[in-house]
Formats: sequence, C-alpha cells, structure tokens
Amino acid sequence: MTTAQAVTELTVELGARSYPIAIGADLLGDATRFAAAIRGRHALIVSNDVVAPLYLDRVAATIRAGNEKVQISTLLLPDGEAHKTLASVAQVFDALAAMKANRDATIVALGGGVIGDLAGFAAACWMRGIAFAQVPTTLLAMVDSSVGGKTAVDLPQGKNLVGAFHQPRAVIADTAVLATLPARELLAGFAEVIKYGALGDADFFAWLERHTDALLAREPEALAATIAHCCRQKAGIVARDETEQGERALLNLGHTFGHAIETAMGYGGLLHGEAVAVGMVLAATLSANLRRAPTADTQRLVSLLERFGLPTTTPSGLDPDQLIGLMQLDKKNLSGNLRLILWRGIGRAEIVPDVDVAAIRAVLA
Ligand code: NAD
Ligand code: GLY
Repeated sequence: MTTAQAVTELTVELGARSYPIAIGADLLGDATRFAAAIRGRHALIVSNDVVAPLYLDRVAATIRAGNEKVQISTLLLPDGEAHKTLASVAQVFDALAAMKANRDATIVALGGGVIGDLAGFAAACWMRGIAFAQVPTTLLAMVDSSVGGKTAVDLPQGKNLVGAFHQPRAVIADTAVLATLPARELLAGFAEVIKYGALGDADFFAWLERHTDALLAREPEALAATIAHCCRQKAGIVARDETEQGERALLNLGHTFGHAIETAMGYGGLLHGEAVAVGMVLAATLSANLRRAPTADTQRLVSLLERFGLPTTTPSGLDPDQLIGLMQLDKKNLSGNLRLILWRGIGRAEIVPDVDVAAIRAVLA
C-alpha cells in the first residue's frame, strides 16, 4: 500500500445506481462535488448537536455555492446511538413535510454512522425513496457505514432491526474533520478498519501492524490510505453482493456478538466499534475452540486491537443467556439456527450456518 495524500475517487459499481466515493482533505468546501450529489430543489441536512456546530455552516455554504436555487433546511438531532430510533426518523419526516419536499429532495447526512444510518433510512422511506448523500465525519463512518446502502434504526429488542437497502447518491469523506474526533471515537473506528484485514486481507492486517503508531498519531497520509483501502474493499464486496445473499455477510465479522452486547447494555455502554472489537475476539476464540482456526491468530488479533486501545473481553455483568437470546434475533440467522461469521485465521472469514449454542455459551461465560 502507498501512503501518498491526494483525493481518492472510487466508484461503487451498481449499474444505474453506481455512485462515487471521494476521500480527501477539505472536501466539505467542494461545491462541484456537492452540487453533483444533490438532486432536486430541496436539500435537508440532517446532523446532530455535536457535529453541526463544527461543520454545518460550511456544508450549507458549499451547497449554496454549488447551486443557489436549492432550498436548504436543517434538522439537528440529539447525539448518540440511543437516538438512532424510529422517533428520530419521524422527526426527519416532519422536517421534509415542513419543507414541502417531494421526490425532488435530497437528504444530506452530516455525521457519523448514527446520523448516516437513520437519515438514509428516512430517505429510503420518504415518498418510497428519495436521494441522499453521505457526508461521514467519523473514521467508522468513512470506512464502513457511509458505503453500501445499509440504512436502519435500532429497537430496544435489537440493533438495526428496522431498515432498508438504499444506496446513497454520493459519499463525500473529508478527512480533515477527523482532527476534531474524540480519541475514543477514532479508536472505535479502527475496530472496523481491523475487521477488513481480519475478514479477507491478511496483507492489510500486517500493514496495520506496521503502521499502528502513524495511525494513532493521526498522520494524514496513513489515515487517508487506510480509509481508501477499506472503501475499496467494501465497494467491491457491495458491488458483488449488494443485498447480502452471501459474501457481504463477511463484513459482519464480530457483529452478531457485538450487536448483542450493545443491545444488552442499552446502547449506552460500549461504542459500536468497541463492541465489534470484543465480538471479533469472541468469533476468533470460538473458531479456535471449534478447531477451525489457529489460536495464534486470535492472539495476533487481540494484540492489534489492544495496541489501538480497544477492549477485547466481554464487559462484566452481562448474562451469556441474555446475549444468546439477543443473537437469536440477528438478521443473518436462517430457519432459527445461529449463523455466525467465524474465521479460518487472519484474512479468512467464513459463514458458519449452524453453530452449536453450547460452544457459543462457553466463549461468553
Ligand atoms: P456516531 O455516529 O455516534 O459518532 C460518534 C461520536 O462522534 C458522536 O458523538 C458524534 O456526534 C461525534 N462526531 C462525529 N463526527 C465528529 C467530528 N468530526 N468531530 C467531533 N465529533 C464528531 O458513531 P459512529 O461510530 O460513527 O457510527 C456507529 C453507528 O454506525 C452504529 O449505529 C452502527 O450500527 C452503524 N454502522 C452502520 C454500518 C452500515 O453499513 N450502515 C456499518 C457500521 C456501523
Ligand atoms: N457493515 C456491514 C455491511 O455494510 O454489510
């Protein structure tokens, strides 16, 4: 991998619904790019009360500079996973109705994965589907959630249980905004970065081992190269399997465990990326216990996650049977069987259709 800093342009190839991903510094000021991303007369910028004070005015000015005829409205939601709810989506609908938005409106999701997922879901629903643009502002959203068109909200019963596949019209990732991201949120994003190496790219995993210090120091070239690499890998998977009939499920390595942990903690304990870090270790441990993978690879995964300051053990006080109950509501399950993403070792994730519940309980205990 090279680390030259420039605007990287990728395409998610989905025929008539193909769209660009742009990654680079200061893209929030790129009026041409925003103009191309916005379809119709109305733009509703959905953000939250943390990101908006930092970046909303800039984005609104850029949209205005690109097309002075676009009517711009804004909706600010409260911050956090606890607000990735149907109630927040209803607020987006109210804002669209207040604008008298028809199908010629575009939602601009300005924020992390929470805003992107819920604003994207609102776009999928409003008048049966309007355009939306992803403007991710966290590392996690840049490397994962803004790409691929999975939109959703959480229910108390489980993560992302209500959602739709709805692809954005563009992804505009301004890497300069990562300068304001709190350290814990940056580290949580690295869990999803490590996931790409763990699931299908042993060379990238080794590259991350060699570049940990540069990434932790937020060196722009290393960050931009990492984001581009992850987006390229994800764009390929999404192009081959948009609606998760097969290969795309591998992107959920660690997620069945992680989502159960997030839900059990009431969406206010571990961050999503942190829960995924723990979930990947549980998946690796289970794979080793089932003699599908070498224990040494679990140890390598744990060491890399720990170097990125991520948790690697299940939080204390969680009931294994409650977690298994939550895992049984996971979207990947078929015919009532627990279908998990396990691995054969670093870079070799696989779908395992019917995992023994006793073996799962053993790693959770
Ligand atoms: P988040 O959206 O809650 O953002 C993390 C925190 O950082 C928030 O407090 C946010 O306000 C703040 N923030 C965002 N950008 C900032 C910036 N530039 N400067 C300062 N603060 C900033 O969390 P996240 O980690 O981005 O996303 C997690 C969500 O993404 C979860 O709901 C998860 O389920 C979802 N997700 C979806 C997909 C998908 O394919 N759709 C993939 C992975 C994760
Ligand atoms: N983050 C999992 C996926 O997009 O499929």
